[in-house]
Amino acid sequence: MYDLKGKVAIVTGAGRKLGIGRATALRLAGEGADVVVADICREFEEFAGYGLGMWEGLKSTADEISALGVRGLPLRVDVTDSKSVDEMVAQTMDAFGRIDVLVNNAGGAPGPAPLLWMEEAAWNKTLAINATGAFLCSQRVARTMVTHREGGKIINISSIAAKRPSIALGAYCAAKAAIIAFTRVLAIELAPSGIQVNAVCPGQVDTDLQRWGWQVEANFRGVPYEQVIQEAAAEIPLGRLETTEDVANLVAFLASSQSDYMTGQAVNIDGGIVMY
Ligand SMILES: NC(=O)c1ccc[n+]([C@@H]2O[C@H](COP(=O)([O-])OP(=O)(O)OC[C@H]3O[C@@H](n4cnc5c(N)ncnc54)[C@H](O)[C@@H]3O)[C@@H](O)[C@H]2O)c1
Repeated sequence: MYDLKGKVAIVTGAGRKLGIGRATALRLAGEGADVVVADICREFEEFAGYGLGMWEGLKSTADEISALGVRGLPLRVDVTDSKSVDEMVAQTMDAFGRIDVLVNNAGGAPGPAPLLWMEEAAWNKTLAINATGAFLCSQRVARTMVTHREGGKIINISSIAAKRPSIALGAYCAAKAAIIAFTRVLAIELAPSGIQVNAVCPGQVDTDLQRWGWQVEANFRGVPYEQVIQEAAAEIPLGRLETTEDVANLVAFLASSQSDYMTGQAVNIDGGIVMY
């Protein structure tokens, strides 16, 4: 559908089985791209038990990519650490010699709490993973794209949480809104280099992270987990929860030449929950 043969993509946060990162990486590979899948592959010391992508999951996604007849390369990265991001970019350049597409998918919301009680560490960590991570990866990758002079695509995974509030997710909402503002600035700064930068705002996607989020909400409200899911599905005009493939479809379009005249946008893909 979208010809990405000969292109090289990096997808961060692609280590979990039921994740947008894995689905996106497989979709880009299905379109012919070689894909680097990157994830943190270790626990957050300060948020023990918080679910993250590990090496086994990342390696198995890379194997699935290679089975499609393109190259899949798993790399460890901490997107909040500029040295680690530099290493990811250097390893990708060593292996492939170019980067055409970056999907800033790594994200999350450790330590959710009402803002009056949110730990400073949780606020900082959430801003760091989502906003600083997208900044560092975009900056380092865009420098290679500018040098290469063949343009490129940067796709930032934001959220409808950037556009409407969610109780106990103040840091996450702020971080995802920061991604949209950052996307717009980067889009105008990189336009002369033929690099398009867009953000994607998913809604209620059934992933490992979202299942944890639904459980957190159930605990906060003191209602059963099933009730939270039913309510989530009931507010979606298109009448079903979102799949990781729904998001991957939009990312594949934004990674392709079909979206060459689009930049600086924050596109909702949420079944119609948010319409602005
Ligand atoms: N699931 C949803 O409903 C939903 C809705 C809107 C937006 N999103 C966003 O989509 C993206 C993917 O989320 P998902 O639901 O597929 O969950 P996920 O847990 O599969 O994806 C997040 C990934 O980010 C990785 N990550 C976290 N911190 C990192 C770091 N410092 N360095 C490298 N990797 C790190 C995690 O290990 C994990 O693999 C996230 O940015 C999330 O905020 C999800």
